[in-house]
Amino acid sequence: MEEVICVSDYNKKVLEKMNIQGIKIFDTTLRDGEQTPGVAFNIEEKMKIAESLDLLGVDAIEAGFPITSAGEKDAIKKVCDMGLKAKVCGLARSNKKDIDIALECNVDRVHTFIATSPIHREFKLKMSKEEIMRKAIEGVEYAKDHGVEVEFSCEDATRTELEYLKEMHRAVRDAGADYINVPDTVGTIMPKAMRYLIKELVDDINIPISVHCHNDFGLAVANSLAAVESGAKQVHCTINGLGERAGNASLEETVMSLMALYGVRFSLDTTRLTYISKLVSRISGVVVQPNKAIVGENAFAHESGIHVHGVLSKAFCYEPLTPKLVGRESEIVVGKHTGIHAVEKKLKDFGIGLTKEQILEIVDEVKRIRESGKKITDEDLIAIAAGYVAKVPDEEKEVKLEEMSIISGLHITPTATAILNINGNKKIGSNIGNGAVDAALNAIKSIVPEKITLEEYRLEAITGGSDALCQVSVRIINEDNIKAIGKSVGSDIVMTSVNATIEAINKLRKIGKEAKTK
Ligand code: KIV
Ligand code: ZN
Repeated sequence: MEEVICVSDYNKKVLEKMNIQGIKIFDTTLRDGEQTPGVAFNIEEKMKIAESLDLLGVDAIEAGFPITSAGEKDAIKKVCDMGLKAKVCGLARSNKKDIDIALECNVDRVHTFIATSPIHREFKLKMSKEEIMRKAIEGVEYAKDHGVEVEFSCEDATRTELEYLKEMHRAVRDAGADYINVPDTVGTIMPKAMRYLIKELVDDINIPISVHCHNDFGLAVANSLAAVESGAKQVHCTINGLGERAGNASLEETVMSLMALYGVRFSLDTTRLTYISKLVSRISGVVVQPNKAIVGENAFAHESGIHVHGVLSKAFCYEPLTPKLVGRESEIVVGKHTGIHAVEKKLKDFGIGLTKEQILEIVDEVKRIRESGKKITDEDLIAIAAGYVAKVPDEEKEVKLEEMSIISGLHITPTATAILNINGNKKIGSNIGNGAVDAALNAIKSIVPEKITLEEYRLEAITGGSDALCQVSVRIINEDNIKAIGKSVGSDIVMTSVNATIEAINKLRKIGKEAKTK
């Protein structure tokens, strides 16, 4: 079987002592994810995301917080009516009203919660430990009496006294809770402490423990994994790590870490991860940072020469897993750090074969362009390469410059008149411009029958002084989207620009003809 993962062997050394299987993925994109500032999903959007999560194969979908609004309740109801394989869950505070509304949505699971930490008890709830416990028990019993699964959370569990937390858990377990979730509500625990806490809780109780980690210190995924190491059997996560403030544990990162690093077997279709990440990004309007693990634009992109060389010989040199596993391809990006291998491979993929010397010249050009701040797209690379492919011998040039006169100065509109010989026919044209170069190029454009647009114009001084040699490169594109580069060196900026443009026009015509004969 084709190897798809290549990770550190040291992982196995520590995994031998752990039994990490049967982990359930509880997705809360539609609830905590929707609590991301500025995000609101409408009914159709919730249904679309729920459908995709179900195809991905998550075990539970928290579809929302039904008490929030009539629209939210409707949306959750619609998700419940979709007949998904995943359990659909609704969030409810520990009170009958919240639970009733969740039940009216026909959820499979009610997730009830109440805050338990001293700070929440004193400043938010203004309730004693005993009152809180009573409400929690009532809530769980009430939901359970209605025949649904019940998951219970002590909100701010990681800042709650351990003994009280255990008492709360035992009480709700006795009231019928099926899962106990441990929220790190403000993301304030560290992985080692999470390992300690979850072990204490797992050893104390005989129902599955779940975790819900926030990312305030960037540790949501690490803390979720630490919890799993200590015996947590369910992990709450969200697509793209959406969620309150800095968000929740990202589903993509949690699932792929569990799979690749911990060897957890899932029945999830991970090839859908990239698609669902894009879907949620588009619907939520929250852009995925390019360097985000697994789904970020750069997660499988390689630019530096050493890396590209390595990846081309064996992808695992610089990729821990085959991108196909998460529904994407590796990408080779050309830029400042590009080496010959990247350019050669890319051009080969586009069917352009060049000599080593030509490729080296292209690499230099690519670096120059990138350093000037411009991003180089595949199209740009093709255009640059086309400049080398389509050298037009003098006898094949269809367009030749016969005459050019330019009037420019102070208080005068720069005007140029050109005579071109196009396939033996003399054509004359005049035009004005913003300066002498612009007027000259406009005069040429007014004569040639094709509609050409100047995409890029670059002028570089090669030597110093007022009579310095300059190099002009132009990139033009015609109405068929064919691009060509023309270059010229000379001492007169205007005439060098004109010569570069005429060269580009001849190349454009040659490339166009070759394309038609293919
Ligand atoms: O972060 C949190 O504490 C929550 C609870 C409602 C589970 O989202
Ligand atoms: Zn939360």
